Amino acid sequence: MSNPNWSINSWKDKPVLQDVVYDDQAHLETVLKKLQHLPPMVTPREVDDLRVQLKEAALGERFLLQGGDCAELFDYCSQSPIESKLKVLLQMSLVLIWGARTPVVRIARMAGQYAKPRSKPTEMHEGKEIPSYRGDNVNGFDPSDRKPDPERLLQAYFHSAATLNYVRAILGSGFADLHKPQTWNLDHVRSGSTRQEYQAIVDRLTDAMDFMHTIGADSGRSLSEVDWFVSHEGLLLDYESSLTREHVVPSTGEKKYYNTGAHFLWIGDRTRQPEGGHVEYMKGIENPVGIKVGPTTNPDDLPVILNAINPSKEIGKVTLITRYGAGNVEKLLPAHIEAVRKSGHIVVWVCDPMHGNTKSATGGIKTRHFADIVEELTSSFKVHQSVGSKLNGVHFELTGDSVTECVGGSMELKDSDLSTNYQTYCDPRLNYEQSLDVAFLIAQYYEKERSLQN
Ligand code: PEP
Ligand code: CO
Repeated sequence: MSNPNWSINSWKDKPVLQDVVYDDQAHLETVLKKLQHLPPMVTPREVDDLRVQLKEAALGERFLLQGGDCAELFDYCSQSPIESKLKVLLQMSLVLIWGARTPVVRIARMAGQYAKPRSKPTEMHEGKEIPSYRGDNVNGFDPSDRKPDPERLLQAYFHSAATLNYVRAILGSGFADLHKPQTWNLDHVRSGSTRQEYQAIVDRLTDAMDFMHTIGADSGRSLSEVDWFVSHEGLLLDYESSLTREHVVPSTGEKKYYNTGAHFLWIGDRTRQPEGGHVEYMKGIENPVGIKVGPTTNPDDLPVILNAINPSKEIGKVTLITRYGAGNVEKLLPAHIEAVRKSGHIVVWVCDPMHGNTKSATGGIKTRHFADIVEELTSSFKVHQSVGSKLNGVHFELTGDSVTECVGGSMELKDSDLSTNYQTYCDPRLNYEQSLDVAFLIAQYYEKERSLQN
């Protein structure tokens, strides 16, 4: 439904937190013009398909798995990192489908997750105050490269497009076909029991799907043709609004606006003010929108934000991504659920067990404890259940590679192991094995639920 007070640029009349100031405005304008001219990366139809799947998630008929890097780097736009990200998310989704006995909607934090909000605009480096690293589409990680450069916005577009192109190409070539061992085997997982349990799932699903195919009951669709959606934080509104396109619905002539740079966008914990520019921008687009909800979210703000972004109360249009910290869930989540229930909105409830659980390890490097991540997930499942609500999905920072950034998990990584392969430029991510560990734990939770019901 179009809002007469909204335009692609109406956010400019509101306060915009985490704004980037460029020295050369003329250069910025040239870049934005170019972005406005470049072709869409995603189509209205794909966005509408995701809306349908998220409606199912909000109604408890589908489970949402969202995951990827905290800060994606331009450098990750390469065959191997893309394949390993796809592989880990596909494998996790298979375990979740099996455990929850519901279809899974997969949304990767990829092909555009290049902008980072920061708690401080500057940091100290060798006794000098320098601007903080704000993600590859703003400045460089190298301390000598911290001046915001508008050219990076164009670079973000081209790296997103190249990433998405390869994702589409391999998925279209059978990368997700269950018969393809390169995608589905767990050869380099050390734990024998994880490997066995997982292989049993793959074998049973492959058998079941082959059987369905043989009897013609699979309606021609299988896991080899998975849906795959991409998302990023909608932080840089100059970039987001430049990729927003008007779309006229052929049957009705109605004008709609789509962000064509990602299927799904979310507003971060630092930029979700009801009167702020980020909420204003999201009001006018058809894309599904996520809102991070944290310890500082006033329950009274939630209905205001929901009514602003989704005045017609479309089911599943908004995803609320809670990230409180393990010990805070029981204290904070019930009031948020109650505020939403009273507002009459039906949202997708997602737990992000990462962002409230960042800690300092020995030597001051950032880490997260696997046990805290599991505790936040478990408490979220429990609290939802105890108030008659349902957790509809999970949101992780993860990578398909064997980094050592979070401690714990079946590999039992310790503080002293973190330096072995600590790669992140931003928040610590679950590595390949830890990501599968967490998928198995969620699957086991569902299995237990089922056995209690039977
Ligand atoms: C993030 O998802 O990377 C992030 C910065 O999260 P939050 O806004 O919840 O802190
Ligand atoms: Co992060």
